[in-house]
Amino acid sequence: MSAEIKGLGMYVPPRVLRNNDLEKFLDTSDEWITKRTGIKERHIAEEWDRASDIALPAAEEAIKNAGLTPKDIEAVIVATSTPDMTFPSTACYLADKLGCDNPMAFDISAACSGFIYGLTIASSFIKSKQFNNVLLVGAEVFSHLIDWSDRTTAVIFGDGAGAVVISRSEGDSDILSAVMSSDGSQWFALHCPVGEKLRMKGKETFRLAIQSMGKASQKALEKAGITVDDIKLVIPHQANIRIIRALAERLNIPEDKVYSNIHKYGNTSAASIPIAMYEAYKEGKLKKGDYVLLTAFGGGLTWGAVVLKF
Ligand code: COA
Repeated sequence: MSAEIKGLGMYVPPRVLRNNDLEKFLDTSDEWITKRTGIKERHIAEEWDRASDIALPAAEEAIKNAGLTPKDIEAVIVATSTPDMTFPSTACYLADKLGCDNPMAFDISAACSGFIYGLTIASSFIKSKQFNNVLLVGAEVFSHLIDWSDRTTAVIFGDGAGAVVISRSEGDSDILSAVMSSDGSQWFALHCPVGEKLRMKGKETFRLAIQSMGKASQKALEKAGITVDDIKLVIPHQANIRIIRALAERLNIPEDKVYSNIHKYGNTSAASIPIAMYEAYKEGKLKKGDYVLLTAFGGGLTWGAVVLKF
């Protein structure tokens, strides 16, 4: 029995904030942001938009692309650090908005690694025969947590949602291995106290990101019993183009096998990998039967990697 990714969906709010727009109210420049991060623009939700609002269109598209209806979904998982409320979970709101039939619903708080954690949980539900169809959404409105006078964080993050439906199948498309870790002693590198704004130690985060994603990726490949040469596409968390390039070098994989769309969206935290998967699939870079490596890193610290046959 396999856990197959059957449908993909994504949504970003229509409002675009370009580097030139940031120049108008921050001591920064398009040149600095582009050179240091690779980001050109990001999408920003309205003040009243909640995570479940932007998760909804992504989830609807993923369910439709899987050839299912919301009534077929037995578990709804939302990976988010910007939930609608402290409780109930964003997943409960989303399931209701979708018109699901009383599914299990809960959120994952693992910052930018939330989608990787969620994929592993969803796969375990499928393989233990608990459920046949699980919806997993990474949905973030980080713009609500940003101190817009802090140039070190305001230029990095964007809003968006990416969704996948994971279904039980008999084929060979499968989630093959997962490695997930955390280190709470490094919480200060990237954190957001309740009711306050996001804080980040950029340099430490940068260094830890490359190390942890590199190690997790190697372990996940070993666990799956394949090598980096078998991998058709690496889809890393979109945090910084320099982190992505350093990871490619560390894994000894050519850059054209490493997907990036950070220039369009910035860092959308738990949404970045499913958004990238969606676009890679639409662009024909991610195909059925391909071995794919996903890896992420985020506040916690949390990190992980997944190897799958798409
Ligand atoms: N515009 C212009 N200058 C800026 C700036 C901005 N937006 N942000 C910082 N600077 C300045 C700094 O003040 C510093 O100036 P100084 O030399 O006069 O002190 C200079 O640029 C270099 O800053 P530094 O922090 O050393 O830059 P960096 O090369 O480390 O890049 C980040 C900063 C944030 C882009 C980089 O550290 C990074 O991407 N870190 C990881 C962040 C991340 O991925 N977080 C999410 C993880 S999921």
